[in-house]
Amino acid sequence: MAAPANPILRVGHENAHAFVVAMLEASGVSSKNAPIIANGLVQADLRGVESHGVNRIPSYLARIRNDVLDPKAEPTLTEVTPVVAQVDGHNGFGFPAAHLGMGAAIDMARTFGIGMVSVKHSNHFGMSAWIVRQAVDAGFLSLVFTNSSPALPVYGGKSQLMGVSPIACGAPSGENSKPFILDMAPSVAARGKIYKALRRQEKIPSDWALDSHGNPTDDPQEALRGVMLPMGGPKGSALAIMMDVFSGVLSGSAFAGAVTGPYDMSKPGDVGHFFVAIKPDLFVSLQDFKERMDVLYQRVVGSEKMPGVERIYFPGEIEQLTEEKRLKEGIPYVQDEIDALNAEAEKLGVAKIRLMPN
Ligand SMILES: NC(=O)c1ccc[n+]([C@@H]2O[C@H](COP(=O)([O-])OP(=O)(O)OC[C@H]3O[C@@H](n4cnc5c(N)ncnc54)[C@H](O)[C@@H]3O)[C@@H](O)[C@H]2O)c1
Repeated sequence: MAAPANPILRVGHENAHAFVVAMLEASGVSSKNAPIIANGLVQADLRGVESHGVNRIPSYLARIRNDVLDPKAEPTLTEVTPVVAQVDGHNGFGFPAAHLGMGAAIDMARTFGIGMVSVKHSNHFGMSAWIVRQAVDAGFLSLVFTNSSPALPVYGGKSQLMGVSPIACGAPSGENSKPFILDMAPSVAARGKIYKALRRQEKIPSDWALDSHGNPTDDPQEALRGVMLPMGGPKGSALAIMMDVFSGVLSGSAFAGAVTGPYDMSKPGDVGHFFVAIKPDLFVSLQDFKERMDVLYQRVVGSEKMPGVERIYFPGEIEQLTEEKRLKEGIPYVQDEIDALNAEAEKLGVAKIRLMPN
């Protein structure tokens, strides 16, 4: 039998992390920030969110080469009130700015019960769930909002205006439950999934996007020329506007269609984010909170199933199960993706990504 045209190759998560760190450091990113960026990207691949993983590296490096993203920028933090702070990303990677922002929100919440941080002049931070995890791992509830470049028409509109900006939030679990991690784009599917299909030469479901003539399409290239479809009509459109109010209007960053996309090399992204961290024992004891999360989890996953449904999952649980598997078995990439990453590495004089033995 002939070998598949685009075979699956596996990479251990530590090797994926080390490879990304080496590429970033060779591109001028500090040894403090490179592991933060690598962590966000590798976590996405581990969780099965390959649309926002290591394969984003070539586009990020192209932004550096085109002088529209500053690899050396250090985000700065300014206290606004004891529970509110602002981060300026200074047009560096979105990951360190987000990490600094959520870290500050957690510190404020630890002391005062709640912490709120607005981030301006930032860039794409990948998958929101890694920032939710930062709070969950520290024992806090969180909200993680961002805006993004135009991709989605507002309800009734014809052309791209709002971003496919993910709404994300989380809560720590009890002893007998999984953490609640919601991370969803307000479109039927994230635009990154279309880029992933393009990379892998796959078709997309025809309800994800319209082509430039306003017709449904299963061709990722045509979809990228057209518009993403909001989920739930006016409701998805309203959620995308909500992300822009909290992340763009409030922060002082770009908004109302003015954010530059990660694949547009003409100017800086000027992305805005908004983070809140909340202490779980503000209104009930910590023990009570955890027991109540256990009850909620058990009620959700133990719900009576529809015919044909094998298992009911809590939000974030499928991704967590994928992560457990990939931590052991490695992360699957297709040959074309590995080749594209190695081509970038060669340009930078960095060693190729280390594959797992077959
Ligand atoms: N930074 C950016 O600008 C940007 C823009 C768009 C999307 N993204 C990222 O893209 C990623 C993908 O977004 P998406 O909307 O396509 O996500 P998705 O549709 O795969 O998942 C959305 C949510 O639904 C839950 N879910 C999915 N299937 C489930 C099931 N069977 N049972 C229970 N829960 C289930 C998931 O746990 C998740 O919380 C996200 O990580 C998002 O942060 C980032």
